[in-house]
Amino acid sequence: MKIDILTLFPNMFQGVFEESIIKRAIEEDKVSIQLIDFRKYTDDPHNKVDDTPYGGGAGMVLSCQPIFDCIEAIRTENSKVIMLTPGGVPYSENIAYDLSKEKHLILLCGHYEGFDERIKSICDMQISIGDYVLTGGEIPAMVLVDSITRLIPGVIKEESYREDSFSNQALLDYPTYTKPRVFRGMEVPEVLLSGDHKKIEEYRHQEQIRLTKENRPDLLEK
Ligand code: ADE
Repeated sequence: MKIDILTLFPNMFQGVFEESIIKRAIEEDKVSIQLIDFRKYTDDPHNKVDDTPYGGGAGMVLSCQPIFDCIEAIRTENSKVIMLTPGGVPYSENIAYDLSKEKHLILLCGHYEGFDERIKSICDMQISIGDYVLTGGEIPAMVLVDSITRLIPGVIKEESYREDSFSNQALLDYPTYTKPRVFRGMEVPEVLLSGDHKKIEEYRHQEQIRLTKENRPDLLEK
C-alpha cells in the first residue's frame, strides 16, 4: 500500500514511522509513506496557502488551489482521498480494516480554522479520530497510518489482532498476564495456569463482558 500524507508540517512526522512495527512494514515494502508539503503547490507569490474566512470570524481557512493542485498531481484511479477533520465520520477499527484493503491512500491534514468547504468535493471521505479538537490533522493521520498498517496482511500475525478490542466483536479485549506469577502480592488468575483451554476461553469471555460493562457499556447496548 502507498500512503501520501499532505501536510504543512512534515517535520511533525519525524521519528513516528521510524520505530517498531511501522518501520519494519516500510522496510519489508508492505507500505510506503510519503510526506508532501502542499505549500509547494501554491500559486501565491508569497507562498500563502490560507486566507481569511468569508463572512468574518476567527482564524484562517485553507484555500482550495494548493490542495486541489496537489491532489490532482498525485492521485490515480486507485486513490482514496481522506480529509482529517473533527467534523468527519467517527474513526473505528471497521474503517481501518476497510482502508487496509486499499492500494493508495491520500491523507489530507488541515491546520488553523479548517478547510474551504469546497475541498470536500475532491475528497472521498472525511474522518474524525474523536470528539475533541486537535491543532491539526497530523496526529490523526499518524493514528490512521498506525492502525491501518498493522492490518495489512503479513505486517503482524493475524492471531495478534483477531481477538483485539473492536476487531470482530462488540467486546473489549480480555486481560493478559506474563511472568512473574505474583507481583507485589497481585496474583495471576488460577485458571490461566490450569492448562484447561476450554475453561480459559470461558474465563476470558466472561472477563471481556465484565470489562466492557465497566468501561464501554455503550458497546453492549449496540
Ligand atoms: N483535526 C483536528 N481535530 C481532529 C480530529 N479530532 N480528528 C481528525 N482531524 C482533526
